[in-house]
Amino acid sequence: MPALVLLGAQWGDEGKGKATDLLGGSVDYVVRFQGGNNAGHTVVVGDQKYALHLLPSGILSPTCTPVIGNGVVVDPAVLLSELSGLNERGVDTSKLLLSGNAHLITPYHTEVDKVTERFLGKRKIGTTGRGIGPTYADKINRVGIRVQDLFDESILLQKVEAALDVKNQLLAKLYNRRAIKPEQVVEELLGYADRLSGYVCDTTLVLNDAIDEGRVVLFEGGQGTLLDVDHGTYPFVTSSNPTAGGACTGAGVGPTKINRVIGILKAYTTRVGAGPFPTELFDADGEALRTIGGEKGVTTGRDRRCGWFDAVIARYATRVNGLTDFFLTKLDVLTGWEQIPVCVAYEIDGRRVTELPYSQTDFHHAKPVYEYLPGWSEDITGAKTFAELPKNAQRYVKALEEMSGAPISAIGVGPGRDETIQINSFLD
Ligand code: GDP
Ligand code: IMO
Ligand code: MG
Repeated sequence: MPALVLLGAQWGDEGKGKATDLLGGSVDYVVRFQGGNNAGHTVVVGDQKYALHLLPSGILSPTCTPVIGNGVVVDPAVLLSELSGLNERGVDTSKLLLSGNAHLITPYHTEVDKVTERFLGKRKIGTTGRGIGPTYADKINRVGIRVQDLFDESILLQKVEAALDVKNQLLAKLYNRRAIKPEQVVEELLGYADRLSGYVCDTTLVLNDAIDEGRVVLFEGGQGTLLDVDHGTYPFVTSSNPTAGGACTGAGVGPTKINRVIGILKAYTTRVGAGPFPTELFDADGEALRTIGGEKGVTTGRDRRCGWFDAVIARYATRVNGLTDFFLTKLDVLTGWEQIPVCVAYEIDGRRVTELPYSQTDFHHAKPVYEYLPGWSEDITGAKTFAELPKNAQRYVKALEEMSGAPISAIGVGPGRDETIQINSFLD
């Protein structure tokens, strides 16, 4: 029985929510291993639409155990409000497991995230303002607060004091903000302890036992490959590792235990926030993709930047993640174009380049080299098999597959749960 990783192959708005949910019924555990409530997964179940930010998508499936792993940064207020929001809609959330080693996002992290962005001015990253970067920074600086600290009041106070020592100097002297009182933070955090204690456990033990017993475990990435702090378009990235290796460190599972890595790939490209994006469109086509695709960020409501499919990026995602499959989403959005440009290489200062340049300067100079594939006009939202797709849509999918370096095993043809063409099973 497989342990699978499911992750974004582009900049992270590819529709992971739908893919995870599709697998949810046959999966025993869905695990988040990095990121926090900067994620936005939209899952459509029947006529109900759910926007999840911190919780794993598997929470909507009654047979599945959702897990928040050690690599996630958790805003306890957000977690509790997301849980109660689902409870009000009749979703049972009692099976959730939360790692005691996960780091907590506190009010001072959110504050530092916002003032840092403001201070950067034109050079800002365009973060979601959820405190993600500062929380990971504290983790690496070894002044972070973990979930388990909620259950030892004196340790909690000592750690919060240590973390605020420097931060208050920064806030007051550099950013001209009011200092934050450690006691106030501790009081707020302790207020969450009782409500969270029932979920907390050693998630690495649970997950390794589950895999050894032959259960199906799905590791669900937030964000995407190009937002990875190591492999993405640094510094315009998030502060964690959404690539496949992140599943190992962020859940405490060895690489030998993972046998499938599925990249979610949108049939075109989108991005939220700042940073290079070679195929970005500033014309009517870009506007059409945004409108037809409903391209608004789930977390911040910002318009997504839109562009044509970029095969250089897709190939890169195959490489750094060791992808075994792709799940291609939103093919239906491309219906109606006479021809569809696909970026097959970049031109960088007069050179043709077919692999993602490692140099940031080169990537900023990259101009897309397009091939033009014939489009289709038939409505494809009802297609249930690959053969039911119009010939040119089939050709588009096959071309993307060849350029991207891994088989396309499923295709999204509409937002609904059943609007998917499954070509190969992910669970063999
Ligand atoms: P994630 O962050 O990668 O999970 O993606 P989001 O949830 O932020 O965005 C995905 C959006 O695309 C949601 O509104 C989905 O309902 C929608 N979606 C997913 N797959 C398809 C598809 O195949 N076709 C269409 N039209 N919409 C889709
Ligand atoms: P899902 O899980 C798209 C982007 C932000 C910003 C950068 C850093 O829905 O794919 P952060 O708050 O993480 O420090 O912001 O990353 N970003 C996302 N873009 N989808 C996301 O999540 C994102 N999470 C963060 O816009 O550019
Ligand atoms: Mg999203």
